[in-house]
Amino acid sequence: MSVASRPIFQRIALLPSAVADQIAAGEVVERPSSVVKELFENALDAGATAIDLAIEDGGRQSIRVSDDGSGMSRDDAVLSLERHATSKIHSAQDLVGVRSFGFRGEALAAICSVSQLEIETALDDGAGTLVRAAGGRVVDVTPIARRRGTTIRVARLFFNAPARLKFLRGTRSEWRAILDVVGGMALTRRDVRVTMTHDGKPALALPAALSLRERLAAVYGAEFAGRLLEVDDVLGTTHVAGLVERPADAGTATRRVFISVNGRAVRDVGLVRAAESAYRSTIPAGVRPTLFLDVVVAGDVVDVNVHPAKAEVRFRDRWPIERVVENAVRRALGNFESGATFGRTVWPSPATAPVVAPPVDVEALNDKAPTPNDGLFERDDDSVPAPPVVSPPAADVPPLVQLRRMYLMFEHEHGVVLIDQHSAHERVLYEQFMRTIDDGEQPAQRLLFPMTLHLGPAEADAFERHRDLFERLGFEIEGFGGHTLLVRAVPMPHPRFDPERCVRETLASLTGDRETGAHARHERLAATVACKAAIKAGDALSPGEMRALYVALRDTTLPAHDVHGRATIVQLTWDEIDRRFGRR
Ligand SMILES: Nc1ncnc2c1ncn2[C@@H]1O[C@H](COP(=O)(O)OP(=O)(O)OP(=O)(O)O)[C@@H](O)[C@H]1O
Ligand SMILES: [Mg+2]
Repeated sequence: MSVASRPIFQRIALLPSAVADQIAAGEVVERPSSVVKELFENALDAGATAIDLAIEDGGRQSIRVSDDGSGMSRDDAVLSLERHATSKIHSAQDLVGVRSFGFRGEALAAICSVSQLEIETALDDGAGTLVRAAGGRVVDVTPIARRRGTTIRVARLFFNAPARLKFLRGTRSEWRAILDVVGGMALTRRDVRVTMTHDGKPALALPAALSLRERLAAVYGAEFAGRLLEVDDVLGTTHVAGLVERPADAGTATRRVFISVNGRAVRDVGLVRAAESAYRSTIPAGVRPTLFLDVVVAGDVVDVNVHPAKAEVRFRDRWPIERVVENAVRRALGNFESGATFGRTVWPSPATAPVVAPPVDVEALNDKAPTPNDGLFERDDDSVPAPPVVSPPAADVPPLVQLRRMYLMFEHEHGVVLIDQHSAHERVLYEQFMRTIDDGEQPAQRLLFPMTLHLGPAEADAFERHRDLFERLGFEIEGFGGHTLLVRAVPMPHPRFDPERCVRETLASLTGDRETGAHARHERLAATVACKAAIKAGDALSPGEMRALYVALRDTTLPAHDVHGRATIVQLTWDEIDRRFGRR
């Protein structure tokens, strides 16, 4: 008989409840930070307005959480350590749309089963109760005097579970995990004052803050918080609000992601991915942005009881919610204000002034003046001053100056803005090409004399693989035997467009580009052709061309970002300029 098939246990027996609690504790209490999370949530559920934490040795020695919430009676304090003891729900129906953080009635029991735990609590200032317990058993209950509220101290976590103790990391690593948890909780409930010490030293002091930006400033610093972009969108019963990173800043510092659903911090890959897809074409693949988003949905479309530590939720139908998240973030990236900045962007605090409207509101401007995309660079010639062609009315466009034949400059309410002419035109053409590919219209221009291109084998192969897309972009190209192509028609973005160079360079950069998803292939081709077809640094632009480029850029959905993950726009704020001149 093999070892594996020999029956080891013959009888079924119910486990003693202390063992059952320890097993359950494995799900809820993984490390000190999970204890902190449970105690913090209990304090919030108790209606605390201030929470103070004292951590020793990364939480391995002791974790103390004090609140000024409702407190507990003597009987409740003892009962709270029992499994399935909760004041938050009474029936299964209460689970639907549950608003409290806790509802399972097992956190304190689980924590108590693997630690030495003390509860000091009072319903009102004066008479209170001290409950001491260890390894899941109450040791004694004594009356004490204290203020209203509760203090729970968890000492020597896993003292009776050596196997678990071995899995604890070093002090620094456990402390960092605690900071993350408390930082996250502090973001979900910004109205609560939070302080924390580590080994007696102050580590966090967060005043009650009204806005996410203020709280982020308190946790991560004003500079960091000041650079983030505001997201705020409602669709139906879904509301998405928060702050996200400027594409130009993505990948430059530690990435932070925080998502809450109905006020509960969650890990949700789907929502994160939806927010990230809003950055498509503004940051290079692989770079991931910092995100802080609060998602609020109707209580009955989300199930919060799917994870022992409630770190995940399940949506009845997640697709529409993800779309709202993506659109909300995309809209935040869609104005000039989201471009790169020099120096700090100073945001007035909402307590004193409303958040500044973006200086150029793309949405509102979209309806005005037809986009002169096709006529963008018509009839212009360096030697002949161009008559103002199909350029937009000057009133709608600020005076523009060209610098070093590379940048356009203008001023607006918040500072000086520089536009990179090549990147900007690239963005304009990219969006135009993507529309062309999607809608299938072909603004092609037949060449008087077809152009013959002799290609290398790799380029010819790249052409074959992208032939359909070239055609949809407005190229009319035929094979001409061997590796020779005959180009009969091309899209004409502007008169300086050099069709031969564009096709050659596009094919050269597509070689070695192995098959990816259909959409990615579209984007790749549109971005490559846009890059090759766009006006270059060094091209002198007439005033009419500058205005046309400005308007065409403003009318794109993501004007402030080029298609390679760089900025098309850089702002130098008046604030920064004033600071440099010592005026502030
Ligand atoms: N800080 C506190 N202030 C007031 N009451 C508390 C506090 N902490 C716990 N309690 C009481 O003890 C009960 C048990 O807490 P416990 O965390 O074990 O369960 P829960 O919060 O109800 O559910 P969950 O296991 O999902 O966290 C709570 O329902 C609450 O009534
Ligand atoms: Mg709880």
